[in-house]
Amino acid sequence: MASDRLSVLARQLAPPPVCPSKAWSKINVNPELMMSAEPMHVAITGGAGQIAYSLAFLIARGHMLGPYQPVVLHLIDLPAAATALRGVAMELQDCAFPLLRGVVTTSNPDEGFRGVHVAVMLGAFPRKAGMQRRDLLSKNVAIFKAQGECIARVADPEVRVLVVGNPANTNALVLATMAESVPKAHVTCMTRLDHNRSKAQVAERLGVLVSQVHNVIVWGNHSSTQYPDVRFGHVCDYPKRGISTPLKAMINNETWLREGFVPIVQGRGAQIIQARKLSSAASAATAACDHIRDWLLGTPEGEFVSMGIYQTGEWYGVRRGIIFSMPVTCCGGEYHVVEDLLPDEYSKKMMTKSEEELAAERHDAFDLLGIPL
Ligand SMILES: NC(=O)c1ccc[n+]([C@@H]2O[C@H](COP(=O)([O-])OP(=O)(O)OC[C@H]3O[C@@H](n4cnc5c(N)ncnc54)[C@H](O)[C@@H]3O)[C@@H](O)[C@H]2O)c1
Repeated sequence: MASDRLSVLARQLAPPPVCPSKAWSKINVNPELMMSAEPMHVAITGGAGQIAYSLAFLIARGHMLGPYQPVVLHLIDLPAAATALRGVAMELQDCAFPLLRGVVTTSNPDEGFRGVHVAVMLGAFPRKAGMQRRDLLSKNVAIFKAQGECIARVADPEVRVLVVGNPANTNALVLATMAESVPKAHVTCMTRLDHNRSKAQVAERLGVLVSQVHNVIVWGNHSSTQYPDVRFGHVCDYPKRGISTPLKAMINNETWLREGFVPIVQGRGAQIIQARKLSSAASAATAACDHIRDWLLGTPEGEFVSMGIYQTGEWYGVRRGIIFSMPVTCCGGEYHVVEDLLPDEYSKKMMTKSEEELAAERHDAFDLLGIPL
């Protein structure tokens, strides 16, 4: 009995599962080849910022590309942050991470993105007091246009890009549009933090372990219009593994879902800023690792996750040409939308609201880029 409890605890503490048969061919999943495998190059923009200060160390520890894949980190930031960036590189060196094969620090995007296999885009222009929405968008459009063009020119042709810097969906859209030679399916934005927050809120409400909660969904924009949705989620029973109960039935309280859960997840970022006087950083870094790990190493059997993906007009009636978060499964560095999760009236209304917000952001961004819609 005690040993059963211990083995469950060990599973809770173990690093997230790697699915070797689902891994992208570039990633080494063989422990015996760890020393000889070619390193993968991972760029992080905003390398001297808060999120990067957690993310770089998680990647070097193997939380993003698995425990057997060596990495070289490319930390990119503005010239004014060069000294801080060197400090981060020194600390990374001092950790003596077995998987870390080198750190490039630079403010030159051509040098920073050269040959990278993964790019995590944290660097964005922050909103300043009195700034209008369009002024903020204009600064970010300029950043993500230049970086998209640069990635297309110098990164590995199969590069996978994750945009985190806000407004994440529209920054990702600008990057995907300007990085012409990069398939649009290889540019995504992060809603995994919202996804993880949803799981944690539900677990707390039900008094279950967060690892028992599966298949929540975040639809739409990484903003206050996002729609966290538990309709297709389930809780795996413990200790009777294999048996699962639908989340909605377990919660059995539509009022809490609409008036408690949804606004809590939508407003969680603002709550953290209020408490910390800084925005979420460690949780954002963790979510970025989760996003890339699942994309490149595969989602576990039966599990889906939320990713902001380029819309082709094929899924759930969402218009083409925006980056909208949906449920996906991943295998071999590709994602596949989970289809046929029919929305009810309330869900349709919530999804449409977020879609319209994204369409308006795209309108303004394309106007600034001088691209006709
Ligand atoms: N999608 C999400 O879930 C999510 C969650 C949390 C934070 N965010 C966003 O992530 C971004 C980063 O957050 P942070 O807390 O690390 O911010 P931060 O202000 O601590 O760091 C940002 C860093 O980016 C750098 N930077 C700015 N412009 C750059 C450019 N053109 N090239 C390279 N570097 C550049 C800055 O010098 C700074 O070091 C913010 O936009 C934040 O709103 C998104």
